Amino acid sequence: MSGYMPVTTKFIYYFKGPLPFDVYLERSEGKYTKIYNKDSEHDPEQIYRYENKEVTTLFISHEEKGLYGNFLCKLMDQYTSGHSDLDKSKIIDVISTSLEMTYERISTQNDELESNMAWASQQVKSALHLMEDNMAAAIEVFKALSSQNQLLKHSYMVSLFSLVLAKKLGIHNPKNLMSIGLGALLHDVGQTRIDPQLFLKSDLTTQEWDAIKDHPHLGLKIVDHTKGISSDIRSIILQHHEQYNGRGYPNRLNNGQIFPPAKIVAIADGFCSFISKASYRETTFTPEEAIKMMKDDIGHYDPEYLETFMTVIRGNKKPMKKAG
Ligand SMILES: [Fe+2]
Ligand SMILES: [Fe+2]
Repeated sequence: MSGYMPVTTKFIYYFKGPLPFDVYLERSEGKYTKIYNKDSEHDPEQIYRYENKEVTTLFISHEEKGLYGNFLCKLMDQYTSGHSDLDKSKIIDVISTSLEMTYERISTQNDELESNMAWASQQVKSALHLMEDNMAAAIEVFKALSSQNQLLKHSYMVSLFSLVLAKKLGIHNPKNLMSIGLGALLHDVGQTRIDPQLFLKSDLTTQEWDAIKDHPHLGLKIVDHTKGISSDIRSIILQHHEQYNGRGYPNRLNNGQIFPPAKIVAIADGFCSFISKASYRETTFTPEEAIKMMKDDIGHYDPEYLETFMTVIRGNKKPMKKAG
């Protein structure tokens, strides 16, 4: 056996139905005992008793990691269909664990690629469910994810805000919303192929900056090996740094040439970057400040989409008149 990986008791506690993997308890260091057999019903009360003994982590075999990913999907599905007692903060933990596994598998080009998109789709469905139509939920999620890995947190937040903006722009077709949500979730996946040290630096050389600017292409290369990635999702990954005025990268496309969902993701991306802490910048900005800076950056974002985004962020109040 190739080892064990930790799983949180909370996720198991809230799952309804037989567990699709064997579960082990670590009796002493390196010694594991099987406490649940795959496909047999588990007793949540037993989990509760373990928690009372301060056991919050159980283990599964590394070989069953993929089954664990499917389990997280089912847990999200139970949540979105109203068959789970999970609350918002716990489902966010489930989503972020699943997101981490999806990113890891996509970036290492694991051979079980078909399930990656099923996992990612379930994350987007859960995102839509979490928000319904209200922005407050997105902000709550943002706070809840604050301790997570920067790229994962960023990706999920960009997905949430892209979906909010898409709906506000009148996109309600589930297939289109799914493409936007997935494209946003994967927009920066190419960054997993770039030296992480570069993202910590504030003074990049031209060469280093060029390496970072390669992430849309790298992202595209990664998803080339992934089944279930539509051309819409590819366009979002490739074009999310293009600008309305034609000064973006990698292809300096002008407004008419940019795929509209990529413009939506660009706005969500800009906004999320401003309101989050970045390793190269100490300051974070309030949503209001972020919007103002984006608006002042004339020519970067699609002005109509940005105007709509402002109404969403400001809680559907009337957009403010132009400053000055
Ligand atoms: Fe990016
Ligand atoms: Fe981004």
